[in-house]
Amino acid sequence: MQQKPLKAYANVGLMRLARRFGWGTNPARPVVAYAEPTLYCNLGCPACPTGLKLDVRPRVAMDFAWYRRLLDELGPYLFFLNLYNWGEPLLHKQFPEMVAYAKKWGIRVIASSNLSLPLEREYLERLVRSGLDKLKVGMEGTSQEEYARYRVKGTFELVTRNMRTIQEIKRELGSKTPKIVIGFHVFEHNQGSVEEARRRHRDWGADGISFAASFVSEQAEQRGIRPSTVDGFNLYRAAGLDASSERCSWLWGAIVANPSGSISPCCGVVDERSDFVRDARGVSILGTVWNNAVYRRARRSAAQPGAHEGRKVHLSRDGMQLGSIPSREHEIICDRCPIPFRQDYVDKMLDKVAADVIAKMRKGKRLRVRLRATLAFVLMGLPSGKRARARTGDAQPAELPVT
Ligand SMILES: C[S@@+](CC[C@H](N)C(=O)[O-])C[C@H]1O[C@@H](n2cnc3c(N)ncnc32)[C@H](O)[C@@H]1O
Ligand code: SF4
Ligand code: SF4
Repeated sequence: MQQKPLKAYANVGLMRLARRFGWGTNPARPVVAYAEPTLYCNLGCPACPTGLKLDVRPRVAMDFAWYRRLLDELGPYLFFLNLYNWGEPLLHKQFPEMVAYAKKWGIRVIASSNLSLPLEREYLERLVRSGLDKLKVGMEGTSQEEYARYRVKGTFELVTRNMRTIQEIKRELGSKTPKIVIGFHVFEHNQGSVEEARRRHRDWGADGISFAASFVSEQAEQRGIRPSTVDGFNLYRAAGLDASSERCSWLWGAIVANPSGSISPCCGVVDERSDFVRDARGVSILGTVWNNAVYRRARRSAAQPGAHEGRKVHLSRDGMQLGSIPSREHEIICDRCPIPFRQDYVDKMLDKVAADVIAKMRKGKRLRVRLRATLAFVLMGLPSGKRARARTGDAQPAELPVT
């Protein structure tokens, strides 16, 4: 895999500096991106705006020319690319080519799919060859009946068959990737199956499994889908959730590109009307979008003293925060942040980059590798307050397990 150039690590350092000082105009480039391949889906999950067919975004696929332009501009500085957000990415016929294009820059590419699709073996071979690093598979149950209560129209057997076929192809091609990880969202009706799923996930064809708290909605509750009664898996617990205690990391370090050409500041923006730019396809992202008036305003307000104080949040039961659309003309989505407990997302991703660099500093086989890693580490600069404090033992309580 292509190594990231040292200028990408220097860009992380600059981004951390801009965030620490709360600069509205950000001289650093995004280090993490989301690009959405499709905005439609074959399933009907009742807490998801796409599954509910709410039409809060147009049902379109990402055009390869738009994707290529995005990557050509941002690719050298990106460490992670998430090829999914609100739709089903494997419905995009060129999905494997999208992944392969990003791998040219040494970016770690992650996707999330329902995998309940009749996928041709030829498509899955292209997927394995593409270099995709991680494939999260949404699967919430140990039987067809339990699974389809949330994954409406989904077929349990099809998901496990696809996972096993991917493993077979990996073995044939001698590929370690993609790593398949089941994302098991825990609700009241499936919390009793957590242990069984943990025991059986390898038989189903996964390499790993993670359990996460789930959003619910009125529509889901009408189908008897309720939040887990286990506090750690309940986003609506009486005591509330801990909001991130620092200024939002997305605003300085991440970008979300949609097939319609619009740009969202983070993955939690459900409705197109809350996007920061309506159509960025014909313009330079860095020159025209990244420091436009809305971005500058959002950063300045996130940097206000007290705006990032740790506080308790109570979510409304409206699915993936479907009711977070700014209601008044002068409001922006950040004024009613739909994911206050996920504002430190970029920090978490950069912790992984730092861990890789530290491993190379310690265990690099050649002196040249160790010296390059040391330089990269220095260029990345110091993490912000909370993470720096964690190193000195003054850490915040554990965070909620949300994917
Ligand atoms: C909207 S989906 C789009 C990607 C793909 N269609 C899928 O389901 O994996 C984005 C992410 O949300 C997760 N998700 C789905 N329903 C959820 C819920 N009720 N609470 C939390 N996450 C959920 C999915 O598993 C996926 O990782
Ligand atoms: S969560 Fe994923 S699989 Fe379910 S409806 Fe939404 S986009 Fe489709
Ligand atoms: S909506 Fe929330 S998480 Fe998203 S960019 Fe704004 S403050 Fe950050």
